[in-house]
Amino acid sequence: MTIARAAAALAVADEGPIALFDLLRQRARLEGRIKAGIDTVLTHGQFILGPEVELLEKRLAAYAGAQHCIAVSSGRDALMIALMAMNVKAGDAVFVPAFTFAASAASVVSVGATPVFVDVVEETCNMDPADLERAIAEVKREGKLVPRAIMPVDLYGLPADYAAIGAIAAKNNLEILADAAQSFGGVSGNRRVGSLAAISATSFYPTKPLGCYGDGGAILTESAALAEAVRAIRSHGRTGSGDAAERLGLTGRLDTIQAAILLVKLDVFDAELRRRREIAARYAEGLKGVVEQQAIPDGMESAYALYTIRVPGRDGLKAKLDGERIGTGLFYRLALHQHPAFKGYNARALPASERLANEVLSLPVHPDLTDGEADRVIEAVRAAL
Ligand SMILES: Cc1ncc(COP(=O)(O)O)c(C=O)c1O
Repeated sequence: MTIARAAAALAVADEGPIALFDLLRQRARLEGRIKAGIDTVLTHGQFILGPEVELLEKRLAAYAGAQHCIAVSSGRDALMIALMAMNVKAGDAVFVPAFTFAASAASVVSVGATPVFVDVVEETCNMDPADLERAIAEVKREGKLVPRAIMPVDLYGLPADYAAIGAIAAKNNLEILADAAQSFGGVSGNRRVGSLAAISATSFYPTKPLGCYGDGGAILTESAALAEAVRAIRSHGRTGSGDAAERLGLTGRLDTIQAAILLVKLDVFDAELRRRREIAARYAEGLKGVVEQQAIPDGMESAYALYTIRVPGRDGLKAKLDGERIGTGLFYRLALHQHPAFKGYNARALPASERLANEVLSLPVHPDLTDGEADRVIEAVRAAL
């Protein structure tokens, strides 16, 4: 049975509430296999770095076309561990888009470095290469920080403009750490997310395109040296079976039970991505000329963690959709420099990020949404506007 047919069978009635995310329908599809996977772990008892973790790492690396994959405790930890492995430290500047989840910049602050906020392109919601060049030039001119790395974020599942950002990085001798927390399964040209930068961090938070049943994440990299450093850092700085901490580390491993769950979900991941893209195409068509939608550049495919529209008067539209019992999300209501935690870090103008924070609204796009439900969302948005 296709996912769309299974979802239709589970939707109690087409007029019921529509959730922004619906993990219960997915669980109904996969429950037997997931329970069997968990049971295997309970039986062998290797709860930390068991065989499922190693198998998952191999399969994720192969899927993404990356040389190495190291499974870790969350997307936020993946970013921080990657920065530690890259030896990013106090006095270093890391260029982060101003319109992203707080964890992107928090990881930079947690290694003692300074996030420098870069504006985004309104149409794609991703880092603006032109503003990145301006920000790098400003940091160089001021001379207080050492420009070290760029952290593009693949917002809502859409890969950032790695071609343009890569050229800027090469010109300025900067490293790139991709925040691919939302975009595992995304594509740019003939490459998948996880192999679009020398090192990438992703998240398996339950509502992500590939999600586990708790916190989880992974680092994918082309560099054997970075992979080795990441493996040590996620396990208290130890290498192999040695008990000596060779460097500072943390408790940063993915649990074996979460790996077992992810192995089951990886089996159906391509089918789920296809379903997310079908729904996205339905929205794109049904809402054409009605609202602005995140633009997907030619040659790129989003993983559609979220389907996001932009409307002035967004809060009014959200209230109307709430009234129709249609779940929506505000990702994000604040740009990074508007969070109290990051107030001290910015002296740059970030108009596109501020505008998006006022105008974005994310619609349900999970794989178990029915065509009928997607059409109800389209009708409700059209009626409200
Ligand atoms: C862009 C971005 N970066 C980082 C993270 C952090 O991931 P996690 O919640 O797994 O720590 C998230 C997820 O929520 C995210 O959306």
